Amino acid sequence: MLLPKIEEYFEEELSWIKNDNYRAFMEFALKNYPPYFMEVPSSSSGKYHSQWSNTKPLGLAKHTKAVALVTKLLAPAYILSEEETDLAIIAALLHDCVKFGFGGGKHTSKTHEFEGATFFARCYKAHKLELPDELYKSVYTAIATHQGQWAVTDPPKKFPEDFDKIGQLLHISDMVASRPGIRFDFLETSLVG
Ligand SMILES: [Fe+2]
Repeated sequence: MLLPKIEEYFEEELSWIKNDNYRAFMEFALKNYPPYFMEVPSSSSGKYHSQWSNTKPLGLAKHTKAVALVTKLLAPAYILSEEETDLAIIAALLHDCVKFGFGGGKHTSKTHEFEGATFFARCYKAHKLELPDELYKSVYTAIATHQGQWAVTDPPKKFPEDFDKIGQLLHISDMVASRPGIRFDFLETSLVG
């Protein structure tokens, strides 16, 4: 199967990012995702994700699209500003980008949250994006703890009190988008596999 280019596959989601610099950053980040990203299912065990996201190829990519959509749709409930909404969409697109580790192993990486945050930090530096400290920290932390109460952190995190708005939104969007029984109209076309 001939796979679409990653920046074309996520063209729609990129268009939701209003700030030109943030959109350029996200396009840069996408182009640097691990090469396996478009090939793999959303999880190796298939245990916690719905079936449509466990396809090979494009399962992880479809899951990412779904999380970005739920993030965009729920952002008003969290009363996010336009800038925060842009950054929440960025966090959603990035959250599982290193799901199988930097080296691309056979299994979901148990530390993929931290690896995803590290990837964000590297892209941030390489692209010379400039964010206020607080917002940088917010995106980094949202990615690094997107599994909510199951985030791999020491000490463990409590949801929702240990999370800011972007962190809460990303965790809830990831949960909603991956629950078995939840389906997305836009994924049920041959265009996106
Ligand atoms: Fe996810």
